[in-house]
Amino acid sequence: MRRLLCVTALRNICKIGKYTQPGISLAACNQTLYRRRFCTKSTNNGPGMDLSDMRKSYKGDEECFEEDQLVSLDPIKQFGDWFDLATKCPQVGEANAMCIATASKDGRPSARMVLLKGYSNEGFRFFTNYESRKGQELESNPYACLVFYWEPLNRQIRIEGTVERIPFQKSCDYFHSRPKSSQIGAVVSRQSTVIPSRQYLRQKNTELEEKYRNTDVPMPDYWGGYIVRPSLIEFWQGQTNRLHDRIVFTKRKDGEELGEMQHEAEGGWVYQRLSP
Ligand SMILES: Cc1cc2nc3c(=O)[nH]c(=O)nc-3n(C[C@H](O)[C@H](O)[C@H](O)COP(=O)(O)O)c2cc1C
Repeated sequence: MRRLLCVTALRNICKIGKYTQPGISLAACNQTLYRRRFCTKSTNNGPGMDLSDMRKSYKGDEECFEEDQLVSLDPIKQFGDWFDLATKCPQVGEANAMCIATASKDGRPSARMVLLKGYSNEGFRFFTNYESRKGQELESNPYACLVFYWEPLNRQIRIEGTVERIPFQKSCDYFHSRPKSSQIGAVVSRQSTVIPSRQYLRQKNTELEEKYRNTDVPMPDYWGGYIVRPSLIEFWQGQTNRLHDRIVFTKRKDGEELGEMQHEAEGGWVYQRLSP
């Protein structure tokens, strides 16, 4: 009831304030409300925000992840098992969203989210702009790390490997399978470059919509897919008592002996357990 009154009061304040469009004023009101409800701690407590008591319970020991629960000793199949479950979990909004970390040639890292668009024994595929920051970093330093985190399942998968562009035709096929608006969007956006305003994008978008109204959109040469060829895949499952499970698969190098706590897996992989 108090919240309802508060929303109504804020709506009225916004109506007589500088925001005159109803959509904007409601959004602005909601933001104000959000700030009031959740951010008072930071404004009242001085410059720092103490988050030391912010923690969630994960799984109990009876739900831990042990080696005998691996559905396969092939980590790609194991990935598939966890990924399928994540896609079926209604609380996971975008199971194929993953963080990809790249690094410049001199080792400065950068990370952002992208969408996984396919995986196989070969590796993990995603699409992007080859001239973007990540694209430039991958050209000079072709290594990446991918991280999936499915919070409702308390599961994380980390993948490290080398990165290559996928064949041009495969990128083209995917590009043209996307909605036309997304194809135009990819042409409009010279990703990671500085632009003067949002209006600049809108205008370019309108021009290209007109240009390609009755024809196919050609895939720009600065756009396409990458494949991350894995050399390490780690499966992590969170435990409330922080004794998390970590089972890591690594590619066995030619002629390499099995380590004391390493186990033979499939397809040239070995696995071992790491301390959390
Ligand atoms: C959930 C999510 C999915 C995204 N998927 C992609 C994607 O598949 N490809 C892409 O280029 N950018 C994607 N982005 C945008 C990137 O995070 C990023 O802003 C963009 O690629 C530019 O990154 P860069 O400047 O580091 O190269 C996504 C963002 C989010 C939040």
